[in-house]
Amino acid sequence: MRTYLAIFGATGNLMYKKLLPAIAALQSNNLLDLETKILCIGRANHTLESYIETAKTQIHSPINWDKLSPILEYFRMEFDQVDSYNNLKTYMNGNGDSKRLFYLAVAPELFPIIAEGISSVQLITKNDAFGRIVFEKPFGEDLKTAKAINTMLWKYFDESQIYRVDHYLGKEMIQNILVMRFANKLFENNWNSLAIEKVTIIAKETEGVMNRGNYYDHVGALKDMIQSHLLQMAALIAMEVPKSFDVDGIREEKVKVLKQIKVDHKAVITGQYNGYLSEKNIQLNSKTETAVFMKVYFETPRWKGVPFIFLTGKKFNEKRSEIIIDFEDNTVQESLWPNQEIVKNQLVIRVAPDEGVTFRMNVKEHGLSNMIQKVEMDYCHDCNVVGNKPEAYERLLLDFIRGNSTLFTRWDEIEAAWKIIDSIKNHVIEPVIYQDFEGFLAIVNSIIKEETL
Ligand SMILES: NC(=O)c1ccc[n+]([C@@H]2O[C@H](COP(=O)([O-])OP(=O)(O)OC[C@H]3O[C@@H](n4cnc5c(N)ncnc54)[C@H](OP(=O)(O)O)[C@@H]3O)[C@@H](O)[C@H]2O)c1
Repeated sequence: MRTYLAIFGATGNLMYKKLLPAIAALQSNNLLDLETKILCIGRANHTLESYIETAKTQIHSPINWDKLSPILEYFRMEFDQVDSYNNLKTYMNGNGDSKRLFYLAVAPELFPIIAEGISSVQLITKNDAFGRIVFEKPFGEDLKTAKAINTMLWKYFDESQIYRVDHYLGKEMIQNILVMRFANKLFENNWNSLAIEKVTIIAKETEGVMNRGNYYDHVGALKDMIQSHLLQMAALIAMEVPKSFDVDGIREEKVKVLKQIKVDHKAVITGQYNGYLSEKNIQLNSKTETAVFMKVYFETPRWKGVPFIFLTGKKFNEKRSEIIIDFEDNTVQESLWPNQEIVKNQLVIRVAPDEGVTFRMNVKEHGLSNMIQKVEMDYCHDCNVVGNKPEAYERLLLDFIRGNSTLFTRWDEIEAAWKIIDSIKNHVIEPVIYQDFEGFLAIVNSIIKEETL
């Protein structure tokens, strides 16, 4: 049976920047079924040839067009006209039975229009085993709007047909967290408040809002980064052992632990980079935050009293996402070497741009000396990869096509995350103006009066 991956918004940034390169890589590596067709749907008046020519000017990564072009088709339609969906159905039916997968790479305002359109002509029906739909974030603006979107979706689709993308979940080291935790006794036995002092989750960006001011100014860092990526990473670090490693086993535990978060509202600091107000499409005197520092606690026996610190921001000193696990002081051993510095163990899970793990520990200096020195054992996850490294979107697209929803977020995870963000938004927080990463950190440390990082 043919597989149709129909992508609404095929002339948009997401399509050119992420989806087409990912599809091209999957096709080059022969990971798509022979009968797969990518139906690029847009309102622009393209032929397939002119669409491909335009795409070539928009995509800067190397792509094997000779392998990709034969599986592409272009379909022009107005998204808000019922007739268009009838035409789309006739077009897709013309090629016989097919699995129908719909990717909505469009703004959320179009979600209900497209969902209703494809349902009204029965291109996809509830509980249809061959029909799936995938959405990009942002999934709502708060709990109320997210619930409204979800109620609309459940009208047309079963939860098992709905895939919600958080592309961080497609990243290698995020997938690796559960393996590292549960396949290594050393870590899992010490993955609790007895051994761990604090957990810091960082996502730093060097760029500003660039040409996405219109979108970003309505959203801000709390909703753009914390609500999705950072809370998802925290859930994987904090969750209990799942009953099974299948989709529901993992999601159950993530939801349970997300519901146990308590925000330390005195330790939520937001910032706005100097110059943000002069960026394109930013409202006059906008109070949108471009950086967030916050401290939360998981109120579970495992994590009692252990702070989880989230730090994210734009115009910082480097592009880097990582999770730092700081272990407690090793006080017994310190008394054995009274005059020497014994460092605390630290585990760093590097998510991007390089992928790997560093573990800091104490060893004896080499030779006749009895001094202790700290060393870092380093594992590079991507160093030995031959050829191109798969991108997060390759993994997510393949899972979507194959019907594996483990790396997509379930509604109750999103609901729990919005409750946390709403609770923060209800406390009025005006962003402080910062120059750079060091500047923001200095402000944070001066406000909460402790060395945080
Ligand atoms: N770009 C990213 O890296 C990124 C990352 C994460 C999530 N997202 C999310 O993904 C979605 C798409 O983002 P994007 O950056 O690709 O946006 P975009 O560049 O603005 O593209 C939007 C697409 O929607 C089409 N469109 C807009 N209004 C339409 C209408 N009324 N009728 C028919 N088509 C319409 C556009 O067609 P025209 O070309 O004809 O205008 C274009 O193909 C958004 O929800 C965004 O938040 C994007």
